[in-house]
Amino acid sequence: MIRTIEWTDSGVVMLDQRLLPTQEIYNCYTEYQGVAEAIRSMVIRGAPAIGVAAAMGIALGVKISPAKSVEELDTHFAEICQLIAGTRPTAVNLFWAVERMRKAYDRTRSLGVAPVREALIREALGMQEEDVRANRAMGRFGQALLSGNARILTHCNAGSLATAGYGTALGVIRAAVEAGKQVQVFADETRPFLQGARLTAWELQKDHIPVTVITDNMAGHFMQKGEIDCVIVGADRIAANGDVANKIGTYSVAVLAKEHGLPFYVAAPISTLDLSIPDGSHIPIEHRDPNEVRSFQGVAVTPLGANVANPAFDVTPNRYVSAIITDRGVARPPYTESLRAVAEYQEPASNRP
Ligand code: MRU
Repeated sequence: MIRTIEWTDSGVVMLDQRLLPTQEIYNCYTEYQGVAEAIRSMVIRGAPAIGVAAAMGIALGVKISPAKSVEELDTHFAEICQLIAGTRPTAVNLFWAVERMRKAYDRTRSLGVAPVREALIREALGMQEEDVRANRAMGRFGQALLSGNARILTHCNAGSLATAGYGTALGVIRAAVEAGKQVQVFADETRPFLQGARLTAWELQKDHIPVTVITDNMAGHFMQKGEIDCVIVGADRIAANGDVANKIGTYSVAVLAKEHGLPFYVAAPISTLDLSIPDGSHIPIEHRDPNEVRSFQGVAVTPLGANVANPAFDVTPNRYVSAIITDRGVARPPYTESLRAVAEYQEPASNRP
């Protein structure tokens, strides 16, 4: 399994996803500011992976903090959390992770600086393991929805690279393959960062799962020709009513899927639910540097100075979403009830690892 992020004694090691598929370079970050910049610049990306990186960045900042007392550490901890939380606005996993680290801090603060440091490292590592477990659970629930020879369209990268391992949407696909199904994947290239062409194709190829890359404007054509059976995507934030923020272009795919009567599935762990907001209009949409659209790998693709818009995410209204595959089961409309039920569901202690 591809490991996109690791905690090591020397620092936080991440696979630089900006360079894939041509170069496989691992960077070691020894300061939390470096981890924050890696999240911002998309060395690491994908909602669950951003959450784990945020947790490890905070653990690293606290580990190397010069603070001698918890009072000094309080100030430093607040600065670290603020920097990490300011990196990317849409994926709620980032804020969920910061919140979990804050709770772990508060639980151990009275014990002193050293126990806080240990507790935060433990919490970050625990979140990494939990994410892989959640992805495997989503895989089990989600693969049951797929036929034995499903032709699946996915958008962006919701795979091992976007998580602590295995993937959400690609986890469902991996689980289908493990169950003996002969699935085929269409990967939208996903302009402008090309997560589909560069990352999804790269990791599926590594696993020998048949994948065909298409440009974003080809999806309708293949649906019309009857060559796609369903769509599975990940999510960056899901509102209480089931509106889904995901990579820009997801909404268009969902509308196309409905027009062609194809199921549109979203696979996301509980950490991607934001039940504090009633609907998708409250989800902050990140707007990235226009130069990501103006050029590709240093080569201009627009005239100099062209006006460019670069929203990184869009919101798919719940009416387009056939089901939301979570690590605690499959939620169906009406989502206001079903998402609350999965969020509140407590696994029997006997089932926990
Ligand atoms: O800008 P990115 O690459 O971080 O966007 C990633 C996506 O939109 C993914 O589909 C989403 O985070 C789910 S990843 C399991």
